Amino acid sequence: MGTKITPKIKSVLARDKKVMFTTTRTPYPFVADRGEGDIVYDVSGNKFIDFSSFVSVYNLGVNANLSIRNAAKKQIDKLMHAAFTDFYAELPVTFAEKLVKKFPKGFGRVFFSNSGTEANEAAIKFARLFTKRQYTLSFYNAFHGRTLGSLSLTASRSSQRHYFGPFPNTIHVPYAYCYRCPFGKEYPSCGMACLDYIKDYALSKEVHPTEVSAIFIEPMQGEGGYIAPPVEFIKGVREIADDNGMLLVSDEVQSGYMRTGKFLAMDNFGVEADIYTMAKAIAGGLPMGATITRSSLGDIPAGSHANTFGGNLVAVAAANASIDYLNANKASISAEIRRKSSIMFKRLNAMKESYAIIGDVRGLGMMIGIELVRSRETKEPAVTERDNILKSCFNNGLILLPAGISTIRIIPPLTVSTDNLEKGLGILEDAIKEANSSLFR
Ligand SMILES: Cc1ncc(COP(=O)(O)O)c(C=O)c1O
Repeated sequence: MGTKITPKIKSVLARDKKVMFTTTRTPYPFVADRGEGDIVYDVSGNKFIDFSSFVSVYNLGVNANLSIRNAAKKQIDKLMHAAFTDFYAELPVTFAEKLVKKFPKGFGRVFFSNSGTEANEAAIKFARLFTKRQYTLSFYNAFHGRTLGSLSLTASRSSQRHYFGPFPNTIHVPYAYCYRCPFGKEYPSCGMACLDYIKDYALSKEVHPTEVSAIFIEPMQGEGGYIAPPVEFIKGVREIADDNGMLLVSDEVQSGYMRTGKFLAMDNFGVEADIYTMAKAIAGGLPMGATITRSSLGDIPAGSHANTFGGNLVAVAAANASIDYLNANKASISAEIRRKSSIMFKRLNAMKESYAIIGDVRGLGMMIGIELVRSRETKEPAVTERDNILKSCFNNGLILLPAGISTIRIIPPLTVSTDNLEKGLGILEDAIKEANSSLFR
C-alpha cells in the first residue's frame, strides 16, 4: 500500500470534524494540497493520479493551466469585484459574447452566478417568468443542486431532501435508466415506456400540461449514477415539451464544457434546449455559474433577478482565458477526447468481460460510469465493494469518486496523459480484480 496516512492527515481530519459541518465526503481521507495537470498531492506528500477532475471542475487540468491562472492573477491586481449586476464592466460582456457563440444559433442572453445550484435557480425563475406557469418537471436520479428551488428538482437520494420540504411544485418522472428500467423492460423493445409514463400519468393525472413551465434534464445524469440515456429518450422529452408549450432546460453543470466530447452534452443527442445551465468547469477552478437562454424568450423585468458576485472579475478572467484556450485548441482537444474515450471504453469493457462485479459500463466521451453489482442476475448493488475499490485505488495512488448507489465515475481531466490514463486504469483494474475475487470466492 503506497499512501501513508500520517499524523498530519489524521490531525486535519480531527480538526475538520470539530469545526466543519458534515458533508458528503469520499470513503477515503484525501486531504488536498497541490496539483498540476493530472497529478495531485496531499498534505503529506502522497502522490495521486486524478480521475475525478475534482468533481468535473478541472476539465483542462488540475489547477487549470498557466494561461488561466495568469489571467486570474492579473485581474486580482487590477480589480476583483465589479458589482456586475449594479455597475457595468467590459470583461463579463466580452466573455458572454464568446460563450454564446458555443451555443446553437439564436442563443444570446446570459446570467452569471457563482455555482451550479444558482444557475438552476435562475433557470427556474426565468422559466416561470417566460411562461407564466408555476410547475416544473424533472427526473428520478436527477441532481440539480441543494438550494430549495434546485432541490425541488433533485431526486437522487431522499436523504438530500429529508426535512427540507415542502418544495416548490415539481413533478418527478423516471429517467431512461435502462440498466435498471423502472418498468422492468429492455431497450429498445420497451417502446420508450418512460416517455409514455410522462404523458399518460404525470401530465394526465397529476399536473395539467399547461401549468408546467419547464422540463429540467441532465443530458447524462451525474450524481444520480452516471446514466447515459438513449438518443430517443432525449428527443422524446423535447417533443413532449414542444407539444405542450413547455421549455426544456439542459443542466450541463457536470456534463458540459467538453466533458462528453462536445461543448454541450445536449449536442450528442441532436436536440436543442431552450435554457442551458453551466458551472463547475467553466472558470477552470474558480466559482462561476451561467444560465444561457434562447434570445427569442426575451428579457426579464429589472429587479426580478440579480446577485452580488455574479460576473466576479477574477472568475470571469479565468473563464475568459479558459474559453480562449478551448477555442484555440478546439480540433486537438476534440480529437484527444475521442482517442482517450476509446482507450477508456475498450479497457473498461474488457474488464466487464473478466469481472462479473461490473454490471454496466456506460457514458459519453470522457464521462464514464461503471456500475457494480453483487450478481448480474439480481443486480444487487455492490455498495461496500464499490467503496472498498475506491479506498484501494486511493491507497495505490488514484483518486476516484462514487456516483449513484454503486457506481464509480471515471472523469479524469480531459488533458490527462495517455501514460497516466493507462496507469490509472491499471490501478482501478487491480482493485476491481481484488473485489471481484473476494465477492466470488
Ligand atoms: C448536474 C448538476 N447540476 C447542479 C449541480 C450543483 O452544482 P453546485 O454544487 O455548484 O451548486 C451539480 C453538482 O454536482 C450537478 O452535477
